[in-house]
Amino acid sequence: MDGVIFVIFGASGDLAVRKLIPAIFELYQGKYLPENFAVLGVSRSDYSDAAFRKKVFSESEFIDAAISKEHKDFAERLSYVPIQTAEKKDYAKVKKQLAKLDKQFNIGGNYIFYLSTPPFLYKTIPACLAAHGLNEEKVGWRRLVIEKPFGYDLETAVKLNEDIRQHFEEDQIYRIDHYLGKETVQNLLVTRFANGIFEPLWNRNYIDHVQITNAENLTVGSRGGYYDKSGALRDMFQNHLMQIVAHVAMEPPIAADAKAIRNEKLKLLQSIRPIKESDVSKQVIRGQYTSSTIGKEAIKGYREEEGVPDDSKTATFIALKFFIDNWRWAGVPFYVRSGKALPTKVTEVVITFKDPPHALFRKEEMVYNDNNQLIMRIQPNEGLLLKFGMKVPGAGFEVKDVGMDFQYSDLTNAHVPAAYERLLLDVIKGDATLYARGDSVEEAWRFVDPILKAWENNPKIKVYGYPAGTWGPAVVSKLIESDDVTWRNPVKELTTGDDFSEV
Ligand code: BG6
Repeated sequence: MDGVIFVIFGASGDLAVRKLIPAIFELYQGKYLPENFAVLGVSRSDYSDAAFRKKVFSESEFIDAAISKEHKDFAERLSYVPIQTAEKKDYAKVKKQLAKLDKQFNIGGNYIFYLSTPPFLYKTIPACLAAHGLNEEKVGWRRLVIEKPFGYDLETAVKLNEDIRQHFEEDQIYRIDHYLGKETVQNLLVTRFANGIFEPLWNRNYIDHVQITNAENLTVGSRGGYYDKSGALRDMFQNHLMQIVAHVAMEPPIAADAKAIRNEKLKLLQSIRPIKESDVSKQVIRGQYTSSTIGKEAIKGYREEEGVPDDSKTATFIALKFFIDNWRWAGVPFYVRSGKALPTKVTEVVITFKDPPHALFRKEEMVYNDNNQLIMRIQPNEGLLLKFGMKVPGAGFEVKDVGMDFQYSDLTNAHVPAAYERLLLDVIKGDATLYARGDSVEEAWRFVDPILKAWENNPKIKVYGYPAGTWGPAVVSKLIESDDVTWRNPVKELTTGDDFSEV
């Protein structure tokens, strides 16, 4: 494997210290990294190498680990340069340190620039790197990793793509979406395309509707300042959830490589029917959590959180209904919801199949559900559950709902890498399959934009309150229009069923 230097901009920030550097350490410990590697932290705070190492070791997720020889060896490869990140001339210091590390660790000129900074620097940093020739691949390769949010709306995302592409080619740019690093999100593709039994049914003839639930029990907490400018649609839906939709609904790619998979995802995103501004109030519900008491704990309402204005209309919950206009999905509704301060933390995809054409066994008193469901649990208790009807032993034909499941926890000895670990390793290998391509990021904004505009232009569109710890505003059930279809309200365990909530 090629040698590499990870250059982390925003190195003293939370993400770098708590997630990125620990993920690199895990890779190092698991012997996944090339022998020749180094990590260079860059940001404004004034740390020496020693002070930066100390910070990383005391604040990161490897705090609990006793300092071992591996920690010490890793620390030696960790250095730091303080610069004014928006000052072009300061990048000379970065260049100098890179040359030093390159020589010391025999790297061969391969650098990954990871932007873990506030988004307003996403345009500046590539330009400053380019001003010092650090984008050029004369010796070794140069890759740029960009955290979300990629743009604030369609216009800013298009502009950002243009700005970055002035200095870096598309195949040097890695837009990170940590949901794509989750094993279970990748497994959506394997379940669909490595098996012969699902795909023949995976279409409008057999599927009644698709539900995706992304729930978090945490509130916004100390992130109010960031979150209030973002909200659930930008924070979760435009990126993570639209990527999940693409994995669930895309056509089979011609190969399992970056180009083929990302081409199919783009095509799928292009086929999602935009929601007209005038239909937004019918197809999109927005909600905001209000104060409540869970057990003995008093939970603050969103507007009482630090950094959130008293009259904020930012959605902490959204539920959408939309359609995909293509041959496979015509007429099949997709329902997606996401929210903070819900009863539990869970993300899952539920495929509900159509009823059998003739209800042979159904009698008035029978309570089985003849919609088969395939539940694909993204997190936690990752796994797959297929629900179907079975005969109750004894006289007659009484039918009962049962489930067949696979759970990741059954896989012994399998190391399930954390999302960041997997994604960082892929960027070293130059595999962009699990990174979002510029055109599909824009396409996702194209769908989200009219919804944002409608909310902006029409303040009368309601923001429904929901008490923290509940499944969102009651009106959300109306989005699903038929009597026999309801939201599946998942509990923490995959197989426990949906008939009680944890609160
Ligand atoms: C982040 C969002 O991208 O994803 C957060 O900014 C959210 O608001 C987080 O909490 C959820 O990630 P996960 O992996 O915990 O589901």
